[in-house]
Amino acid sequence: MPLESALVWTPVALSADLPVASVIPARLADAALAVWRAQDGTVSAVADRCPHRGMRLSHGFVRGEALSCIYHGWRYGKSGRCLAIPAHPALTPPETIRVATYRAAERDGIIWVTASQEAGAVPAHDGFLGLRSVTVAASPARLAASLGGTLDGSVIDGTIGGVTARLLLAPSGEEGVLLVHLLIASGAADAGKIAASRALEGLRRQAETATITGEAA
Ligand code: FES
Repeated sequence: MPLESALVWTPVALSADLPVASVIPARLADAALAVWRAQDGTVSAVADRCPHRGMRLSHGFVRGEALSCIYHGWRYGKSGRCLAIPAHPALTPPETIRVATYRAAERDGIIWVTASQEAGAVPAHDGFLGLRSVTVAASPARLAASLGGTLDGSVIDGTIGGVTARLLLAPSGEEGVLLVHLLIASGAADAGKIAASRALEGLRRQAETATITGEAA
């Protein structure tokens, strides 16, 4: 199954990688996103393009409950509406000036985004916690084979570094490259976390080498 069709909610980042009052770039299969966390901890996702002159909003900054564009400082609220234009401080921006928004949610230490208004509950991965994210230039099948794990849609279950693990796959925005979030059993000791993190590097090399040498994906 193509990765895109396995995803209604896309795991775009780990919660730990988006501190309070920060913004990061992220991806859906067909959209570049700016994902930001307000001062109150709320996560929002918007199109990564400022409606003014097209600057990437993921290059911007967060103050309080608003995301500001780095170029001319237009400020956007959680609804996507433009709240302020610094060059015209007396102006209340018309409601029509807004950036496209996406539904965003957090669960089990993972940030999820969907473009669908009909999407149901956010996927649950109880018993796991997010450890780190990497990009891997390999197909889902090749990655699963390299791990010796089981691929089900956009999820691979297996063992890595001696720890029970789950890999969540998402588009990276680059053809043939996956964004891979490593989750491990939530009870894992620190030594297990270190071992799993190191083993992920080895897994990446193994999966990418297998792809490059032309083994069947
Ligand atoms: S391009 Fe964003 S404020 Fe001008």
